[in-house]
Amino acid sequence: MKKVGVAILGLGVVGGGTYKILTENAEFYKKNHGLDITVEGVLELNRERALSLGVEESKIASNIAEICSNSDIDIVVEVMGGIEPAKSFVLAALNSGKSVVTSNKELYCKFSHELEKVAKKNGCGLYYEATCVGGVPVIRALLDNLQGNKITSMMGIINGTTNYILTKMSDCGAPYGEVLKEAQKLGYAEANPTSDVDGFDAAYKLSILSSLSFHTKIPYTEIYREGIADVDPVDIQYGKRLGYAMKLLAIGKNGENGIEVRVHPAFIKSNHPLASVNDSFNAVYITGDSVDDVMLYGRGAGALPTGSAIVGDIIYCATHQGNNYSTFKNTEKADPSTKFIKNFESEYFLRLSVNDKAGVLSKLMSHFSKHGISISQVIQEKAENGQVPLIILTHSTFENDIKKTVDEINSASDVTKVLSVVRVIA
Ligand code: HSE
Repeated sequence: MKKVGVAILGLGVVGGGTYKILTENAEFYKKNHGLDITVEGVLELNRERALSLGVEESKIASNIAEICSNSDIDIVVEVMGGIEPAKSFVLAALNSGKSVVTSNKELYCKFSHELEKVAKKNGCGLYYEATCVGGVPVIRALLDNLQGNKITSMMGIINGTTNYILTKMSDCGAPYGEVLKEAQKLGYAEANPTSDVDGFDAAYKLSILSSLSFHTKIPYTEIYREGIADVDPVDIQYGKRLGYAMKLLAIGKNGENGIEVRVHPAFIKSNHPLASVNDSFNAVYITGDSVDDVMLYGRGAGALPTGSAIVGDIIYCATHQGNNYSTFKNTEKADPSTKFIKNFESEYFLRLSVNDKAGVLSKLMSHFSKHGISISQVIQEKAENGQVPLIILTHSTFENDIKKTVDEINSASDVTKVLSVVRVIA
């Protein structure tokens, strides 16, 4: 029986879940994997929390040096989150010859080049399945199962908090602020929700996933990012009438003209598989040249789903020779030859309020035609107080042209306002 000693840095939600899985399934791993996996150390400032989980007093370390010098520990699991002290602890573990399993997407996204270099130098493994989409095994799929494919696009709902909020806004028509408060009360959103609602969490994950998919470093700073704070429930309801669901999408495309990477709210056709990914669930929809479309769906967060990804990495690390490093040149910045497309193409939904006067529509349309934008649908609602609610859907056009058109319309005196613009996934 192979002995595998594990240390867990941080016994919060994910660390606690990992500890529970490892201890409760210990016999299962012995019987089925031939692995005797034991938690030989934890690093947790809140000793009471560690003791309440059942950790023996003698296994609670006082500092990272105790973990690094413990020869019973083979694999260090970092589930603390944030950059420091997590980064120093991971580097210390790697420099002492221990393999590392991490769920820390911000750390891996921003410093994978540095961590991987140290891991390679010391011949250690560096595993990060839990950084992206919790229990959904997307990293391993990209590293192993899908590696025979040229991946042309990936599109995902990779943040559970925002998906929960948008699902509730869609179901009950409530405004963003109200639903956010409710989500915080229920524990679906953090007290400080910025990382989730402003799209940073999704951008970190998209950076990792698109680098693996497109075999070149995609720094998160290259990702266009827009959160959900400005989503108006009125637009969600119009979208539903037109057969669309509103989602915060993370999109990566690799085409002849370059790579485009973006995170923003968008309408997606209600018959697309991603449209039925609701509440806090996540999914990634990948298109490869051989496999065609693949969708991986499941829980993107939570103690046991994310713990599942961590324990999977521990078992993989313990049962494989050699290490599974990046499938791209892992540098801090993008390779100078990588071309990023910023002026991307999309279809658009626009909601306007226009004056109910003769000739207004034809003038309005002239702004679109001036920029070569073709309209696919116009819906005019009943006028109220001399104002007409108008919905315009465009054919595929360039982002910069839509921006110019909207600016021009908003500065024209006879058209009141473009109230919202939503990208539509064709
Ligand atoms: N906060 C993330 C989410 C989970 O809401 O999906 C961890 O990445």
